[in-house]
Amino acid sequence: SLPVENVQALASKGLKEVSPRYLRAASELGEVCETELLEIPVIDMIKLAEDHPDHGDEIEKFHLACKEWGFLQLPLEEKNYYEKLPNSIEGYGQAFVVSEDQKLDWGDMLSLLGQPASQRNLRLWPKNPASFRATLDSYSSELVRILLFLLRAMAKNLGLSPDVLASMFEEGIQGIRLNYYPPCKQADDVMGLTPHSDATGLTLLTQLNDVDGLQIKRSGKWLPIKPLPGALIVNIGDVIEIMSNGQYKSIEHRAVVNTEKERLSIAAFHGPNMQAKIGPLPDLAGKSSALYKTSNHEDYLRTVFASKLDGKSLLDQFRL
Ligand code: SIN
Ligand code: FE2
Repeated sequence: SLPVENVQALASKGLKEVSPRYLRAASELGEVCETELLEIPVIDMIKLAEDHPDHGDEIEKFHLACKEWGFLQLPLEEKNYYEKLPNSIEGYGQAFVVSEDQKLDWGDMLSLLGQPASQRNLRLWPKNPASFRATLDSYSSELVRILLFLLRAMAKNLGLSPDVLASMFEEGIQGIRLNYYPPCKQADDVMGLTPHSDATGLTLLTQLNDVDGLQIKRSGKWLPIKPLPGALIVNIGDVIEIMSNGQYKSIEHRAVVNTEKERLSIAAFHGPNMQAKIGPLPDLAGKSSALYKTSNHEDYLRTVFASKLDGKSLLDQFRL
């Protein structure tokens, strides 16, 4: 990845005009729905528990949210289900910059490996504030618990034995990314984060302040998302689309920026362990009905890291 300027420093210069490397053409910016901010389905994790009286309704709602939206929210804080949601993420800068003439995103990010914990590069984990490392460590492992819980519910909804997904993701890879989007005077002509679908399996995203900016693509238009305070946003990535043989689709999304206010978000990307094959689960696709190729996890990741963010184009390389 090529080094680019720090956007926070750029924004603080108060320049009248943004460099053309950031300015997007109208065609690229697309059409935004003129509705109220959208509320994606909200799933109550407490009710997903098998012994809860509303389990049947909630698990059905979860299935529909996965099938028809690919994006949903878990109001965790309300339920006191998990502890504080901290800041996090290997290396500070902008990812996915592969050429000098590609448009740049108006945001800085710090990426860290969350899991496997034994492979963390602690040199890159900030020591300030003093609580950062411990907080991120517990955030990382609590998210894995939520992840495995959701994967079991998904497997059941797909008619599979409950552990088939969870067992692959249990010792899997978790990348954590802290996104910082400074305000921009030409907010409408730049992009905080280029449209993409997440290449991993399941993303758990939290927004740290109440500045909106996440948009998802639905029926060709961009829908702004209104996050619930304290909720986790759950989003289906390419690996789950492939493993579910297309029953659950990864969803294209992007982040836009604000003229006045900065925006902060943390994304945690979850992939299976390195031994897992990335392909349709055998119970969902026979040889002739598979819609996607099966690859080694290593080869899959090599393709991911050689690509720039570009809608759902990554997944096209794995379609049959
Ligand atoms: C992401 O897609 O990784 C982050 C989106 C956001 O900042 O809301
Ligand atoms: Fe994403």
